[in-house]
Amino acid sequence: MAKAAEAVEATIAAEARLDARKLRADFPIFQQRFHGQPLAYLDSAVSAQKPRHVLDAQREFYETSYTNVHRGVYLLAERATERFEGAREKVRALINAASTREIVFTRSATEALNLVAYAWGLDNLGPGDLVVATELEHHSNFVPWQQIAKRTGATFRPIPVDGRGELQLDALEAIAKQGSVKVVASNLVSNALGTINPVETLAAWAHEQGAIMVVDAAQAAPHRRIDVQRLGCEFLAFSSHKLCGPTGVGVLWGRAELLERMSPFNFGGEMIRKVTVEETSWNDLPYKFEAGTPPIGEAVGMGAAIDYLTGVGMAAIEEHEHALAAYALERLAEVPGIVLYGPPADRRAGLVSFNMQGIHPHDVAQILDWEGVAIRAGHHCCQPLMARLGVAATNRASFYLYTIPEEIDRLVEGLHKVRRTLGNGNFR
Ligand SMILES: Cc1ncc(COP(=O)(O)O)c(C=O)c1O
Repeated sequence: MAKAAEAVEATIAAEARLDARKLRADFPIFQQRFHGQPLAYLDSAVSAQKPRHVLDAQREFYETSYTNVHRGVYLLAERATERFEGAREKVRALINAASTREIVFTRSATEALNLVAYAWGLDNLGPGDLVVATELEHHSNFVPWQQIAKRTGATFRPIPVDGRGELQLDALEAIAKQGSVKVVASNLVSNALGTINPVETLAAWAHEQGAIMVVDAAQAAPHRRIDVQRLGCEFLAFSSHKLCGPTGVGVLWGRAELLERMSPFNFGGEMIRKVTVEETSWNDLPYKFEAGTPPIGEAVGMGAAIDYLTGVGMAAIEEHEHALAAYALERLAEVPGIVLYGPPADRRAGLVSFNMQGIHPHDVAQILDWEGVAIRAGHHCCQPLMARLGVAATNRASFYLYTIPEEIDRLVEGLHKVRRTLGNGNFR
């Protein structure tokens, strides 16, 4: 391990109360070698690896407590329902929601955001209204709003970012003059740049305009303490798979008074109270928004993931990743021809985005893979942001509670190798 990495690991251990090296033992994926090397998994923003605790909890649930929920009167059905609703309570506590009635299980953050765009947007938007989303949104919180604006005759307006990918809040005044702002959509942490966005400020501005605030917390909920009552937003979405839980389940939190007034998003079983040939009435919250069989085992797995993360401590995870991002920015700056994107370390979460001058990001990621270093190359589902930065794609290395500084050293060594191999313009 390089000296600098040793020093940073010592600092992290002293300050952050988190022993990443020890935690790695909980993740079976790290027992394997890739291309003959230990895995340096620097792509947790795309999806997090799963600890044995989560895998075991899901297996135990299926082996001892599984059937459909909210239907049967037999003991097994009651047990399954209890475990499923227990997971809902864990989600509530994670984000400090006032009630489990406000926690809707969806398939993913994407589905949660679509739910709000359709179920709230179709009934509340029209000509003369403004739908505002940031220029650095993931497509999941951009395209649904753009499309619902088109359908309803509302106008879609992005909040611009500056060259560092930070929101230009001084543009808000001019935006407000263009119509009646009805919804403001922003992520709490950008998946492409790691920017921590001033969501509380945006929420206050949205409320001054009489608008609702929709927060995409897909990159925030897994990495930092979230308190929806303090954020001041109306809706917040995230996915289980990015917080060490299984795929196939996500969360929409919404204020009960708004969810009460909204029409359902999907129709079918379980979301109804009474159905006749003429009319149907809806079930109570949150079931009105959970049509059909929900992701039962997945929700239980997410509950186990929340237990695991909160056992480590959300503040410790955030501090650990923050220190890794600062270390990565410092080390990456040593690489000749590197271009770094995004804000300085103090305003950034645990990921770094960069390009190597004259070398395609996919070629960079390919060569790093041969070294056992897994990073992401692409537009990160943020094409409007890429257009603003004047690039088609970037490389992104992202960190989590199991990331160790040595992996960042391997990334940097790999980038030197990329430069030696392709830096003479010998790329495809
Ligand atoms: C900021 C952000 N929002 C939304 C999503 C969509 O998450 P999912 O694919 O789990 O629905 C992602 C996934 O990368 C993301 O990073």
